Amino acid sequence: MSKLIDGVLVANSVKAEVKAEVEALKQKGISVGLAVILVGNNAASEIYVRNKQRACEAVGINSYKYLLSESTTEEELLALIEKLNGDSKVNGILCQLPLPSHINKSAVVSCIDPIKDVDGFNPQNAGKMLSSARCLLPCTPQGVIKLLDYYGIEIEGKNCAVIGRSDIVGKPMAVLLNERNATVTLCHSKTKDMKNILKNADIIVSATGKPRLVTADMVKAGAVVIDVGITRENGKLCGDVDFENVSKKASFISPVPGGVGPMTIAMLLKNTLKAAKLQNGEA
Ligand code: GUN
Repeated sequence: MSKLIDGVLVANSVKAEVKAEVEALKQKGISVGLAVILVGNNAASEIYVRNKQRACEAVGINSYKYLLSESTTEEELLALIEKLNGDSKVNGILCQLPLPSHINKSAVVSCIDPIKDVDGFNPQNAGKMLSSARCLLPCTPQGVIKLLDYYGIEIEGKNCAVIGRSDIVGKPMAVLLNERNATVTLCHSKTKDMKNILKNADIIVSATGKPRLVTADMVKAGAVVIDVGITRENGKLCGDVDFENVSKKASFISPVPGGVGPMTIAMLLKNTLKAAKLQNGEA
């Protein structure tokens, strides 16, 4: 039976650290603020944005929410971002994805000032990440690394399989694991014989949104399995991993919900604090 990776526990410890630092900055007259923008009525995004706002409140970060209608034009959205780029109360800007199809995601992500880009999606931050320079890093992959570190799971020299090559999770996940000296295989929908790759992996990170993609026969005994997938099936949240059976074989496994999800928000708060420190010469 594997050990459960408790994302709520680790997220709470990160949030406590952030809260203490936010309070210390307040003593110096520096307040920390995050602007969250949501365009349209995606039900899942509405929940994520509400959770992000609540998390800000809990650690003393001021949150500024912008709920824009589905019919908002790209020009209007870019104008709002430009305004927030110039607003000193706002240290971090997050535009919730996905965006309506008439808005160009690249234009939006590129418009966010790199020093306020708490998602780490701006090409300037993505490029810095690739060249190992200091920058704001994407929240979910950072959260996965934090979970591995918290549980004392060694990364260096390990065979890691990342499943899914999204810009938000899979690609940066592979980069961050490589940065920690793992040997990384990035699997995707065109990968041949994925089972053979997974069987050889010490650490598996799955981020596809395909329920039950990772089954026990694909996992090496004693492997560490991190499930980033979130799919709603008949009103119930489920990950990419067949938890019931894989948990009998893995050494550590993260559940859905309660695994990576809370970490994404905790790392967003940490990035907002980092952005505020950078902007105030405190980092
Ligand atoms: N949509 C799903 N995950 C994310 C995320 O981490 N950031 C943003 N901005 N949108 C998302």
